[in-house]
Amino acid sequence: MIPVKWGVLSTAKIGRERVIPSMQKGPLCDIHGISSRESAKAREVASTLGIGKTYGSYEELLADPIIEAVYNPLPNHLHVPWSIRAAEAGKHVLCEKPIAMNATETRELIKARDRCGVLIEEAFMPRHHPQWKRVRQLLQEGKVGEVRAIQAAFSYHNVNPSDVRNQADIGGGGLYDIGSYCITLTRYVFEAPPLRVIALIDWDPQFRTDKLTGAILDFGEGRQANFICGTQMTRYQGLTILGTKSWIRIDCPFAMPEDWRAKIEIGANIMPGSAVDTTELFDPIEQYMLQGEEFSKRIRTGGDSMFPLEDALENMKVIDALFRSAKSQSWEIVNQTE
Ligand SMILES: NC(=O)c1ccc[n+]([C@@H]2O[C@H](COP(=O)([O-])OP(=O)(O)OC[C@H]3O[C@@H](n4cnc5c(N)ncnc54)[C@H](OP(=O)(O)O)[C@@H]3O)[C@@H](O)[C@H]2O)c1
Repeated sequence: MIPVKWGVLSTAKIGRERVIPSMQKGPLCDIHGISSRESAKAREVASTLGIGKTYGSYEELLADPIIEAVYNPLPNHLHVPWSIRAAEAGKHVLCEKPIAMNATETRELIKARDRCGVLIEEAFMPRHHPQWKRVRQLLQEGKVGEVRAIQAAFSYHNVNPSDVRNQADIGGGGLYDIGSYCITLTRYVFEAPPLRVIALIDWDPQFRTDKLTGAILDFGEGRQANFICGTQMTRYQGLTILGTKSWIRIDCPFAMPEDWRAKIEIGANIMPGSAVDTTELFDPIEQYMLQGEEFSKRIRTGGDSMFPLEDALENMKVIDALFRSAKSQSWEIVNQTE
């Protein structure tokens, strides 16, 4: 299969340090060019990463007919505008999470995808990791019985005022940045959207971003998830699924170093309550490479996406409802905006 020629919008840290080097290891991804608002930056990154072509603006990259697909790791407020421009230039788009600032914007992106006839997806790489495929298999085999609850947490410490995460007007804050993972993966486990949600947010007075969010997601029929995400706490991640018979604990459910051995533990359902029955370890694998390969393969061969933009829309509806809930201080129906 001929590799897909990719172009990258910006010299973003996540692209430079993780996504581009990982995608370069995949046989179906040719990182053909990189753009920046400053051509010198594009040239510097291209020379470090061995990328052949550089562009001194995002427009210039989109105007290059050789580029087939675009990776968009711009700040959150630019995800939809530049993904739409890329689609209108005939490019397929893999766009960083969160796909948009809200559900309304996501619907505009869906329209652009359909109008332009290209693939557009949200880059939530953990869903491509074998550990999550295994978790879904265990759940489908009834290993934990009926899933009743999920508890997740994701946090780090970042008080750099110039970081995109600490700038409210460009889509900063913990809920967009890391709460979004908790929402995606709780939805992945329940294979359904939550019906209503409630949130408690601690806002940073200087950055005006959510620095600590606690949320409860009600999936109905006696099923719920809760999560904590914070941007000014210790670095931590974890997710536990509690069923009627047993539990599954995922040690590193979201982001992990490329040489990390992922681990899932399955509960023994004996006293003490957290005794482990089985531990499963996974060989290190690059989630970003798997994501890029899967997307490139679909560009070449077609076929349905496991995670279309309609799935990203479900996430944005939950984020919208959580922000509404923090304001109203009450439960908010997720589908209220439809
Ligand atoms: N999937 C993951 O594991 C993961 C991890 C981290 C971040 N992300 C996502 O990736 C995106 C970028 O995050 P990052 O930490 O890599 O950000 P970053 O290093 O600040 O990169 C953002 C880039 O966007 C360009 N840009 C255009 N307009 C800008 C503006 N007004 N302010 C700042 N930068 C602007 C800049 O590139 P030029 O100067 O070259 O034009 C900048 O380097 C975010 O959406 C984030 O959620 C995903």
